[in-house]
Amino acid sequence: MSGLKRLSFSSSIFFSRHSRLQQQLFSVSVCMPRFCGLCHTMCSPPTTSASTSSSSCTSIFRYAIGVSKSLKISEKSNCLGRKQWPMQSSTNAKWVESENSSLVVENEGKKATGAKSKGLSSSSVPLFKKRLRIVDIKGGPDEGLKRVGEQLLVRGWVRTCRLQKAFSFIEVNDGSTVSNLQAIATANIEGYEKIDLGLITTGSSVLLDGVLVESQGSKQKVELQVSKLTLVGESDATTFPVQKKKLSREYLRTIAHLRPRTNTFGAVARVRSALAFATHKFFQEMGFVWLASPIVTAADCEGAGEQFCVTTLIPNSHTNPNTPINKIPCTKDGLIDWSQGDYQLVTGKQFMCSLPKAQGAALLIIQSTSVALLIIQSTSVAAPSAPSMGPLPQDFFGRPAYLTVSGQLNAETYATALCDVYTFGPTFRAENSNTSRHLAEFWMIEPELAFADLKDDMACASAYLQYVVKYILDNCKEDMEFFSTWIEKDLTTRLTNVAEKEIIHVTYSDVIDILSKAKKKFEFPVKWGCDLQSEHERYIAEDAFEGSPVIVTDYPKDIKAFYMRENDDGKTVAAMDLLVPRVGELIGGSQREERLEKLEKRMDALGLNKDSYWWYLDLRRYGSVPHAGFGLGFERLVQFATGIENIRDAIPFPRTPGSADF
Ligand code: 4AD
Ligand code: MG
Repeated sequence: MSGLKRLSFSSSIFFSRHSRLQQQLFSVSVCMPRFCGLCHTMCSPPTTSASTSSSSCTSIFRYAIGVSKSLKISEKSNCLGRKQWPMQSSTNAKWVESENSSLVVENEGKKATGAKSKGLSSSSVPLFKKRLRIVDIKGGPDEGLKRVGEQLLVRGWVRTCRLQKAFSFIEVNDGSTVSNLQAIATANIEGYEKIDLGLITTGSSVLLDGVLVESQGSKQKVELQVSKLTLVGESDATTFPVQKKKLSREYLRTIAHLRPRTNTFGAVARVRSALAFATHKFFQEMGFVWLASPIVTAADCEGAGEQFCVTTLIPNSHTNPNTPINKIPCTKDGLIDWSQGDYQLVTGKQFMCSLPKAQGAALLIIQSTSVALLIIQSTSVAAPSAPSMGPLPQDFFGRPAYLTVSGQLNAETYATALCDVYTFGPTFRAENSNTSRHLAEFWMIEPELAFADLKDDMACASAYLQYVVKYILDNCKEDMEFFSTWIEKDLTTRLTNVAEKEIIHVTYSDVIDILSKAKKKFEFPVKWGCDLQSEHERYIAEDAFEGSPVIVTDYPKDIKAFYMRENDDGKTVAAMDLLVPRVGELIGGSQREERLEKLEKRMDALGLNKDSYWWYLDLRRYGSVPHAGFGLGFERLVQFATGIENIRDAIPFPRTPGSADF
């Protein structure tokens, strides 16, 4: 058992089976983590109902964890069924079924101004569009002036409430835009007593009924003259952690459930969402087919052994995620006994188990009954190599399975049938990198192009990057100005250059030449054949090419993955990395080795088991074509596009070594 000592995450973790729990806190279109340390305690336990309705708490990973029945949540559960939506009672809105079965609201006869401007007729506007957002009021070029005189109902969270003698200023934000709406409440309005009682505090949620008027102040064009103030949810001013004062990013990471209420994290969430939208828009417009690559896989695409292993071999109590170490079956010698064991007796369920490489690998253990995962960093487990394991009848998948590090191999299968495809989903790496650019769970975009070579790949990567950068400059103006003012000075100028200028291309050999001649002293020595370190990549992008993105191609084959196409020199491969300032490597890609013989030779040289890649090799047996692709780390793109320093602030709920909270 001695090898199972170090936990790579500080607590037991779970596959997320209910993302709505987080969506209620973070309602912009955001990705939800696959690891969730909380949801199981908040959701109703699974029932045997066969319902698959969308309001059921259906597990994302139901298949992976072997629960074949869907889970149903009662109306009383904590999973935020529609009945619990607080606005329903507060607005005195009535739920009615529209002709086309979508829900619409009758809201005391008030005008649904927000949705109307988007071309929806007021009578058929679904409820969610009738909620007027602050961006609908003051987001346009006139900053709200055209709405002056309109009676509006504003919903949001109070940022500040300042009391004057005869009236109060309330600043409200609803997350639709970085700027607040200023509201003026005079002492005679309905609900003013809530201010007198000190209940309109930072963090409280309110409804403000009033007329939009031109503002007397210089900071905003319009403000709301409130006629009725409704307090929806109180917020204890003495304990609410997100006060107006500046809070460090480190501190905000400890309150990731409340940090979207800050300007910075609201803006990051909106820009991240826009980048995701622009990504799909770009590839769809270019005729690519979106492909859902699997999250649980048997392959190690990058061959680096940095995979989380998926297993239920290690038993776990339903109620207590802290599995006692002596419950793990072991041999007389104190090693994990993978071959046999009375596991059925322990949990009454089938197990899946898998073995990582013995040294430095991470085990991810899923128990099918409670959806519990335990991550154990294993350094000295004498695990047999995967191919020699033989059948494991108690294993869920009957073979070693892992969380994917990349969807590329699967993308190649579809590219060699549909020509141009892309994946966009979560990927996982169990590398113990505590840096500002590494996550254990990150999202990757991986296009794959058939009948294409490295030049096509580079052109696609450049066009994609320029497209998404231009998209956010055009569509997220206010947020981008916010980042330029508060996060990175001249961000918009930097991004405009990226969007407009041609992206530089150099070879690896050129880079070694530049680094060797550089005046800067590097920690890691530079010579042909070395892997480029972050300090080298940053020097190239930041100093040598003065802040421009740079594509580096033709790396030595020994430092790159097995699937890359060998160049004619026999020493290098048709690889490309796109480097950007501060982040370093944003994109990694290559032309793939489409020649069966060469690929097999390379796999043999690297000691890879060809049998487990039989399907991948089949692509070279049947109608093989030159093809190429790349992977872009989405959080690194968010860093690059917002100027945010740490990758942990570019994803709503970061997973890093020792941290899987929220
Ligand atoms: O260079 P990588 O490892 O390439 C692949 O995975 C290829 N299979 C992609 C392909 O050709 N389809 O990873 C691709 C990108 C990196 O350039 C980086 O942006 C990001 O994924 N990345 C990470 N982002 C956050 N945290 C980590 N631990 C990351 N590892 C890689
Ligand atoms: Mg790479």
